[in-house]
Amino acid sequence: MSFPVQRPRRLRSNENIRRLVRETSLSVDNLIYPVFVGHGSGLARPVEAMPGVYCFSIDKLLEHLEEAVKLNIPGILPFGVPAYKDETGSEAYDDKGIIQEAVRAVKRAYPELLVITDLCLCEYTSHGHCGVIEDGYVLNDPTLDLLARTAVSHASAGADIIAPSDMMDGRVGAIRGALDKNGFINVPIMSYSAKYASAYYGPFREAAGSAPQFGDRKSYQMDPANADEALREVWLDIDEGADIIMVKPALAYMDIIRRVKDEVNCPLAAYNVSGEYSMVKAAAQNGWVDEKRIVMESLTGIKRAGADIIITYHALDAARWLK
Ligand code: PBG
Ligand code: ZN
Repeated sequence: MSFPVQRPRRLRSNENIRRLVRETSLSVDNLIYPVFVGHGSGLARPVEAMPGVYCFSIDKLLEHLEEAVKLNIPGILPFGVPAYKDETGSEAYDDKGIIQEAVRAVKRAYPELLVITDLCLCEYTSHGHCGVIEDGYVLNDPTLDLLARTAVSHASAGADIIAPSDMMDGRVGAIRGALDKNGFINVPIMSYSAKYASAYYGPFREAAGSAPQFGDRKSYQMDPANADEALREVWLDIDEGADIIMVKPALAYMDIIRRVKDEVNCPLAAYNVSGEYSMVKAAAQNGWVDEKRIVMESLTGIKRAGADIIITYHALDAARWLK
């Protein structure tokens, strides 16, 4: 007598047999490393809410990126901390703005490293919202003009991919049109298509100094309760010319990642955001979790859910651990 006939544990008995039947493999090829950059020189300001993350001046960023390049990370996603903020976020589309200067410097130092620029106004506006304000409301269409202008400025500085994160309606079309008109027909758009109004962005807003000064982002970012709407957003972006789509945040939205992957045949990125990073770091610093195992498990989970590309502040550690 033999019972049970099926014994799934047979295929778990040693590491080599587990390797043979492993369904998901995480690779450094999948990773994008987000970084913070500000004006000045010789600066590495620690971001308090994100242990291990710094806001660098451009010279220090270049030093820091040497390791990312050595580890063969395909690309970075720089966020700028501007010198000044105003109502319309003008440093965002200033050709001498922090991102434009950073893009030029990084491309000069590391021509192969992809520089993907986050395109939004909230780091640059005095009110901290992602667009132009009238009577407390973020105006959609006037914001599109500024986003398009910023995209062209990024591409002119040498950005490899433009990544709009503002959630205005029609922005991918507006940006695609402006890029094409200015000769950047081959610069891809990676759109933050399904970006939720999330508390998980808290630590990022400290790092970038981009918290809204009044209200919240719920009139433009998505309601965390919605899933069908994510599909509508994704299809709109594809129709408007997006090359890569994104779901953000990642860990509380694994079902969205899976649905998008199942229904849409387009490269898909997932953003493992600041709050997701900080929770792991805080627990690890207290000795409550095993940082390496928990990070690799989360990143593998995001990949298994369907993401082709993972944007994560753990990228350098993960790339080291993957070696
Ligand atoms: C800009 C932007 C944000 C993030 C990426 N781009 C902040 C926000 O929307 O408030 C969040 C990234 C993170 O939390 O790691 N709109
Ligand atoms: Zn924004």
